[in-house]
Amino acid sequence: MMAGQEQHRRRVVLFPLPFQGHISPMLHLGALLHARGLAVTVLHTGFNAPDPARHPELGFVPIHEAFPAEVTSPGADIARQLLALNAASEGPFREALASLLRLRGGGGHQADVACAVVDGQCYAALRAAAQLGVPVLALRTDSAATFRSLLAYPRLLDAGYVPVTEERLDEPVPDLEPLRTRDLIRIDGSDADALRRLLARVAGAVLASASGVVFNTSEGIEAPELAAIRRELSRPAFAVGPLHLLSRAPAEQTLRAPDRGCLAWLDARPPRSVLYVSLGSVAAVSRAAFEETAWGLAGSGVTFLWVVRPGSVTGAGDEAPPPLPDGFSEETRGRGKVVAWAPQREVLAHAAIGAFWTHCGWNSTLESVCEGVPMLVQPCFADQMANARYVTHKWGVGMEVGEVIERGRVAEAVAKLMVGEDGARMRERARHLQMQATAATSSAMDSLVQYILSL
Ligand code: UDX
Repeated sequence: MMAGQEQHRRRVVLFPLPFQGHISPMLHLGALLHARGLAVTVLHTGFNAPDPARHPELGFVPIHEAFPAEVTSPGADIARQLLALNAASEGPFREALASLLRLRGGGGHQADVACAVVDGQCYAALRAAAQLGVPVLALRTDSAATFRSLLAYPRLLDAGYVPVTEERLDEPVPDLEPLRTRDLIRIDGSDADALRRLLARVAGAVLASASGVVFNTSEGIEAPELAAIRRELSRPAFAVGPLHLLSRAPAEQTLRAPDRGCLAWLDARPPRSVLYVSLGSVAAVSRAAFEETAWGLAGSGVTFLWVVRPGSVTGAGDEAPPPLPDGFSEETRGRGKVVAWAPQREVLAHAAIGAFWTHCGWNSTLESVCEGVPMLVQPCFADQMANARYVTHKWGVGMEVGEVIERGRVAEAVAKLMVGEDGARMRERARHLQMQATAATSSAMDSLVQYILSL
């Protein structure tokens, strides 16, 4: 692209929520919009800032926020964290966007802003963009099923399904099958009022401020959910995923450096022989659950690659990975590898991987689906419950590790998935689902670009 051409591109301004599972899909979207002729500026927080060098085609502008510890300390109550993050980023985001718009006033073509695309959780930034007169789209980095359940919250509150109570945990939720009450967003340990305020603001901002919604999912796996959302929202909804596949970026822009040595280790293993274990970028489990996981893996007899991330055990600090139980490394020598952070997409694409033990963050779920890898699910909070339910009861490509993590059950579940007949059936279905998910063409992205240019 020559400098003159760059000058005449219409510009899209992106604003990701500053967490791993949100930054990756937003930057993939940015790369795709750029490849279709738009100029892209990423406004971002200094906290968890992306690395501009990894995306030379995009412009990066920090917003100079001052986040309280409630936002930046790991293990924070998530509803409160998102409320505080929205409150503290609204002003700095507004100023940064207004400065970009002033460039236009100065006659530069560079800032001919066609629209903003803001993470769907950033309701304050969605509102700020609309108030500045900039058309704004919400990017949902979770599934269409999750957003559909969010839109249903007022109805579910009236009908007493939420707040979720012990007695109704296993009740199916009408019109949201296969979800049960327990699969709805409820953040354990979170203050119910804060959660209610957050969900109302998130859904409210889309309805009040957004000119459309963009989903990192594909019609191939969530067509009914997308159709229901379109019926309910009187604005366009684009299913442009799986973004990581379409953007063809070699790997995620990750906030931690991956341990690439595990790829050579996988090269030496037979096809489908290794269980990959990772609970994503934020979830933390108790020390007891961590130890049961370790001894369950040891007892299963299966070969495994386990991501033990700093901060993944509550109370163990986030400077270094939590220590493994005494004797675990000796017991599993030769058939187990533990790393602090893996190049996950490359791992899931490796022929040696037989299954994925996951917390069911939406990116991990989608990455596993796109590689045809069956899953063992251990959802921890938020949308992970609904994703896990879809994996086990809608798509039939995974099984639960059990509500209580206990070494005997862990060993049994792992062996069942890796070497049992159930596992073989799930692997077969996973291959089928992979075809449905990856059949997505670029036509949804083309429609999105046309829509952006029409705003
Ligand atoms: C958060 C929320 O908790 C989740 O509910 C929501 O759906 C997305 O954001 P997170 O833990 O970040 O989840 O999980 P996920 O969405 O799966 O994203 C994690 C990303 O980190 C994936 O893209 C995965 O490939 C990457 N990753 C994870 C690595 O690259 N290496 C690792 O070792 C672990």
